[in-house]
Amino acid sequence: MQSAELSIVVPTYKERGNVAELVRRLDAALTGISWEAIFVDDNSPDGTSEAVKDIAAGDRRVRCLRRVGRRGLAGACIEGMLSSASPFVAVMDADLQHDEKVLPQMLARLKTGGADLVAGTRYVEGGSADSFSGSRSAISRLATKLTHRLVGTNLSDPMSGFFMMRRDRLEELAPRLSPVGFKILLDIAATGGERLAIAEQPYVFGTRFDGESKFNAQIGVEFLGLLLAKMTGDLVDPRFLFFAIVGTLGLVVHLIALRLSLIFLPDAFRAAQIIATLVAMTSNFLLNNELTYRDRRLKGVAMLRGFVLFCLIGSVGALTNVDLASWLYTERQVWWVAGAAGALMGALWNYAMSTLFVWRAR
Ligand code: GDD
Ligand code: MN
Repeated sequence: MQSAELSIVVPTYKERGNVAELVRRLDAALTGISWEAIFVDDNSPDGTSEAVKDIAAGDRRVRCLRRVGRRGLAGACIEGMLSSASPFVAVMDADLQHDEKVLPQMLARLKTGGADLVAGTRYVEGGSADSFSGSRSAISRLATKLTHRLVGTNLSDPMSGFFMMRRDRLEELAPRLSPVGFKILLDIAATGGERLAIAEQPYVFGTRFDGESKFNAQIGVEFLGLLLAKMTGDLVDPRFLFFAIVGTLGLVVHLIALRLSLIFLPDAFRAAQIIATLVAMTSNFLLNNELTYRDRRLKGVAMLRGFVLFCLIGSVGALTNVDLASWLYTERQVWWVAGAAGALMGALWNYAMSTLFVWRAR
């Protein structure tokens, strides 16, 4: 039997209630096309992979790639696309927000229109995203504007997770793609650059059929980190943005803790400042462990050891910061330049050392 002409890759996390309906709709929309659907499930606790395998048992066009110990939309899409041999691959969400009825048009444009990639778009004539809530719509539009400013791309909807492309072009770009975050289309377009011929296909973004969205603030910050990395030619690691935000929050925590300590210890500023420092260090450590280094999260004894190291690194960082700032101040006499340079230096040091020693890649 020959391989299918079109593989549809569907990343899933907790989408049990959507998979059967999606397969039904694909079957109806893709008459006359030889297709297969590859569900890439990150070990969803709701039994999504079992639901897919039940369908797969009676339909050889359906397959489930169950990943264990890993999470991430972009990475799931990349692995799913690379797991097939068909000449054309599409990526679409499982929740039926992407319109499967435009898939045949997208395929036709790849086969005869000379495009390497057809991107689904909600932001040109014929498309729409009215089903987005007010705040999600604002976030999506803001992210689109930022992307246009910061990354050289003419995609009208770079945030879209709905597209189809030629397999040969994908295989070529795959080693340079990042498995982090939600923005797989943007990454492919930015990595492919001018040599990747992109066409756009308008579609109407529907409402979620069942279950809930996995979009959250962390994914938003991850995206900003990705933009920062692309802007600086991958000089700044996307992680650093998280680290900097946590550090800024730490200052707020510090001031609140200091104020509270001073209520109980009105005559002991030194003691209050020590308490506030400890509180801020602890909160920074915990937040970094949860967010910045989520994929390398420390637990149990390793967490305790990490915390001690984190504090040691932090004290050296503070000394470096003070030394540099004082030296700059005697040289230039501009307090805020000296202060900011010292703080930035301290943050960079803490970040580099924490990545190297506290949350080491395993
Ligand atoms: N395998 C895997 N692993 N799949 C995931 C993960 C993950 O960690 N996180 C989300 N998914 C799957 C979901 O199960 C769904 O099929 C698809 O990715 C999109 O996730 P949603 O949770 O439905 O995202 P959304 O609707 O809020 O976001 C949509 O709009 C964004 C643009 O504003 C998606 O289309 C995004 O791709 C798009 O960028
Ligand atoms: Mn969705």
